[in-house]
Amino acid sequence: MEDLPQGVRFLPGYLDPLAQRALVEGLRAIVAEAPLYTPQMPKSGKPMSVRMTNCGELGWVTDRDGGYRYQAFHPVSRKPWPPIPIQLLALWRDLAGFPLPPEACLVNFYDGTAKMGLHQDRDEKTFSAPVLSLSLGDDCLFRVGGTKRSDPTVSFRLQSGDIVILGGESRLAFHGVDRIYSGSSALLPKGGRINLTLRRVTA
Ligand code: SIN
Ligand code: FE2
Repeated sequence: MEDLPQGVRFLPGYLDPLAQRALVEGLRAIVAEAPLYTPQMPKSGKPMSVRMTNCGELGWVTDRDGGYRYQAFHPVSRKPWPPIPIQLLALWRDLAGFPLPPEACLVNFYDGTAKMGLHQDRDEKTFSAPVLSLSLGDDCLFRVGGTKRSDPTVSFRLQSGDIVILGGESRLAFHGVDRIYSGSSALLPKGGRINLTLRRVTA
């Protein structure tokens, strides 16, 4: 692989298949309580191709009128988000190098046609903690660059169990998902890819 942009950490195969299956079980319970919904782009109201939910005290949401933000409840059910599973809290403790636990875990679900445009994670009030991202299910083509949209980017395949950490000088790195490789993993019986991102939100 080409060199990653400064500060980007890539931990391929960090979670073994057993740990991945345990997490998927936990996610089933989360999605039962806080169903995946289709977020909208700010202003245009255009639906995103990725479906989302959250766990943790705060969840990242977006819709036409309210734009990108964090809130403590599901936008459809209005119920508080379910707690972050302990396996994820342990991953954060082991890898984030930050003294406080994550406040938000965004759950992204990609079907075979979903993608996510190049963006920065910058809706948090603090950038001192990293964003820790875990992939489950089908592979994707992930792209990451620098802190300017025009910076060169590197593309590589993320597989189930891989972790990417954007912290320090890469905390505001532009990143996105260009495509999903349907059928590349058997972890999710109906296919697709799940991405979990753990974040600190408040200062
Ligand atoms: C995100 O940036 O929210 C998702 C990244 C990914 O799906 O790997
Ligand atoms: Fe992101």
